[in-house]
Amino acid sequence: MRIAVAREIDPIESRVAATAETVKKMKALGADVAVEPGAGAKSGIADAEFAAAGATVTNDAVRDADVVLKVRRPSASEVSGYKKGALVIAMMDPYGQHAAIADLASAGVVAFAMELLPRITRAQVMDVLSSQANLAGYRAVIDAAAEYGRALPMMMTAAGTVPAARVFVMGAGVAGLQAIATARRLGALVTATDVRPAAKEQVESLGAKFVAVEDEEFKQAETAAGYAKEMSKEYQAKQAALVAEHIKKQDIIITTALIPGRTAPRLISKEMVASLRPGSVIVDLAVERGGNCELSKAGEVVTVNEVRIIGYLNVPGRIAASASSLYARNLFAFLEILVDKQQKTLAVNWDDEIVKATALTRDGAVIHPSLAAQTAA
Ligand code: NAI
Repeated sequence: MRIAVAREIDPIESRVAATAETVKKMKALGADVAVEPGAGAKSGIADAEFAAAGATVTNDAVRDADVVLKVRRPSASEVSGYKKGALVIAMMDPYGQHAAIADLASAGVVAFAMELLPRITRAQVMDVLSSQANLAGYRAVIDAAAEYGRALPMMMTAAGTVPAARVFVMGAGVAGLQAIATARRLGALVTATDVRPAAKEQVESLGAKFVAVEDEEFKQAETAAGYAKEMSKEYQAKQAALVAEHIKKQDIIITTALIPGRTAPRLISKEMVASLRPGSVIVDLAVERGGNCELSKAGEVVTVNEVRIIGYLNVPGRIAASASSLYARNLFAFLEILVDKQQKTLAVNWDDEIVKATALTRDGAVIHPSLAAQTAA
């Protein structure tokens, strides 16, 4: 069983799919591990560290590999260097990417999309969305604090008092809850909103105040999978009116609201931005999915009426060493279910619900039910 850790080719990507710790664990599973030179450089993992953990560091790492570990979906040219039948495990960003997924199928690899894991207890240890969103939520507060020209905590000094910053977190899922916790640790006064009723108790348990339109639709907003639904136009209007009033008094706003498979809901209009005090900061963590703020720009920090709107891409990658460490553990946990530990060989159980939920391509075809339907349509 040969496992390769590929170097990421996208310049925005600073993470890596394995660490010295997971290389050792893969070796203990009976695998030979090969790492492409420089794969861990941007996460602070030198080639020598991978080698010391037992990996071979070589430009040929992927060529004969039975398993290729990556952070991002490999391009057609990357995958052309992989062995037919190789298992490729990465965040595949599969929706709306028919051509790219078809390329993986025609390359003959078995592609697994880590972001499609079912949210069941057994899969929690593999949940890349949670591990990465958690760090993004933390980093969003750090980025906001760096742009904000005032202190976050209340400070009582001989020269007088500096008031605590008011932080509003929109979307209280994994990223939002970590943003709340981080902002609270920094001493801010925190409020938060969400459309799922379950979020209310979680927000309050972190010591923040919950602000939301709690009508009948709100009570039904959570899907069986634990995600939000797209809300009706009527709800959106009520939510916008509430937010417009609340937002005026905020110093920092962190938006994290997402709906699986759709563009992000628009929660902050340009009029709302205009109502903010100069020096306020917005961090739009949903910018890669269209953005929660009308004025945010992907990959940029824009200033409108002295309000800074942060739209960094790949926020988990801005805390790359921690993000890689958790992502690598997620991948190792997933790999473990694909291996027969006695025989020390790959043994994919195609009936396992985790395998069924994540496998995109096999034997030259797109096999994932939701993508196969899209491809046919
Ligand atoms: P997500 O990244 O899809 O969305 C972020 C947040 O935005 C969600 O809380 C969502 O309700 C909220 N949102 C959507 N539309 C909104 C709107 N119009 N206004 C305000 N907020 C809006 O969600 P994430 O972070 O992946 O978590 C969703 C849920 O799944 C959480 O309850 C989380 O605790 C749960 N979860 C369960 C796991 C498990 O294995 N059982 C693992 C990870 C998360």
